Amino acid sequence: MNNDIDASWHYHNGTKHPHGRLMGKLHTYDPAFRPNPYKVYKDIQSTVLPLDKSPSTSALIAISRNIEQEVEQIVPDLNDLARILYFSCGITKTINYSRLGDVEFRAAACTGALYHIEIYLVCGNLPGLDAGVYHFDPKYMKVELLRKGDYRRVLINASSNNIEIQHAPLILIYSDVFTRNTIKYQTREYRHAFWDCGTIIANTLAISSAHKMPAKVILGYVDDLVNSLLDLNTEKEVSLALVPIGFTKEAAAQEIPVIPSLNLKTEPLSNYDFDDQEIQKIHQASSLTSGREVKEWLGVSPKIKIPSPMENPISLDPFKENKIPSASLERIIIRRGSAREFSREPISFQQLSTVLYYSTIGVSADFLEPYGCSLINLYLIINAVDGLQSGSYFYHREQNKLELLKGGEFRQTAGHLGLDQDLPADGSVAVFFMTDLEKVLKGFGNRGYRAAQLEASILGGKFYLASYAQNVRVTGLTFYDDAVTEFFSPHAKDKSVMFMVVLGKKKS
Ligand SMILES: Cc1cc2nc3c(=O)[nH]c(=O)nc-3n(C[C@H](O)[C@H](O)[C@H](O)COP(=O)(O)O)c2cc1C
Repeated sequence: MNNDIDASWHYHNGTKHPHGRLMGKLHTYDPAFRPNPYKVYKDIQSTVLPLDKSPSTSALIAISRNIEQEVEQIVPDLNDLARILYFSCGITKTINYSRLGDVEFRAAACTGALYHIEIYLVCGNLPGLDAGVYHFDPKYMKVELLRKGDYRRVLINASSNNIEIQHAPLILIYSDVFTRNTIKYQTREYRHAFWDCGTIIANTLAISSAHKMPAKVILGYVDDLVNSLLDLNTEKEVSLALVPIGFTKEAAAQEIPVIPSLNLKTEPLSNYDFDDQEIQKIHQASSLTSGREVKEWLGVSPKIKIPSPMENPISLDPFKENKIPSASLERIIIRRGSAREFSREPISFQQLSTVLYYSTIGVSADFLEPYGCSLINLYLIINAVDGLQSGSYFYHREQNKLELLKGGEFRQTAGHLGLDQDLPADGSVAVFFMTDLEKVLKGFGNRGYRAAQLEASILGGKFYLASYAQNVRVTGLTFYDDAVTEFFSPHAKDKSVMFMVVLGKKKS
């Protein structure tokens, strides 16, 4: 099934704005019916996490530094675990709305603030926490014990002996509860699953790096094995990605633990109970079903062809490492929030340069080998950046240069491409994360669809952090798919948009 890439095209084309044919035109959503954004297990043993929010490393260093597993033992303790989970998706602020009451906002941006991504963990014995399979409860900052004992061997098998998983004392598993997001976004939810997982993973990678712990994104695994370990009802909830963290020399227990079904009681996963068959289909089609398939799937990342620059591209001027803004990652994550309006004032060329450079150095992932390669190309509409002509641009990442594609005033166009919203028209820069989807699917099969969406959203999450580190505001946005490709063509003629953000100045 993974090689039948028509499934990805069917899903992708069918969920394009406007009028994708898999989307109902008359669907409406009333936030008063927002599903509970927390998975609640009943009658379960839990451990409260101690939380220390004190600052560590600068946010820009944390998002750009890759720590690899080496020889030195790095085992997170309960404090480290608490920080990793909190700064990935903990509650960072509460806002009271007259109609909705208190809404709890999280460490990472999420479409519609619906928070449909859960985090589970599988670990050996950690200082302060016994080996087990746990669920993270961000509301009460605790981990809940699903299975007692060391189950890491299941993940080693599921990932066909992935080397980082073999040596990880702790592995996070991100899952998606479909109906907490389909209630608003219908079938397009499966894109949001990766978008909203990616912004969380950007934080996980950054906080791990801030504490000098190796962490890597793994998509090469047998889905069913991981879902059974977490005892997920896969019609409602599925795993999306694994992130092994830390390094231990000892391999996990050799014997494969039996995985009995748990039938743990939870509160209903959502008040919206419509199982979207198109989401089921694309998820099945992009699932890996055996160790052999995992092995075949891995390999060198497809290289996206980039036309050479036409004329004199502009060299960027990012802050040098010894001069970068020092705001700590923790402070930036706590302050982060999506911009709700922009002032139309320019950001500086150095601010834009710094965001582009530090966010795109590399994402550590099994589908991005060697480290530093990317499935994503960045196209920009520059409305207001000091010293730059307004117009459309392409970012040559390897050279750290911007190429002007078309000069002109495109605020209105940016507003239109971002689903006719004011934010991209008023912001300073709109950034479109695009990929050659056909090429990615030919290289990686349908699993490549997940990979491209995920890489784009991890980069998007880094854009959030890199911008806030410089007092630049950001928001994620959704878009009219084909209109974006058309606007950036002929340069972008074979490319599809995976993600979008807008950067700008706060309205005072
Ligand atoms: C991928 C993505 C797409 C988004 N699209 C929009 C959008 O189209 N319009 C909008 O106003 N906000 C959009 N947002 C912002 C979310 O509404 C916001 O993240 C959410 O309300 C949580 O608030 P916070 O980011 O301030 O924590 C988007 C966020 C993400 C991550």
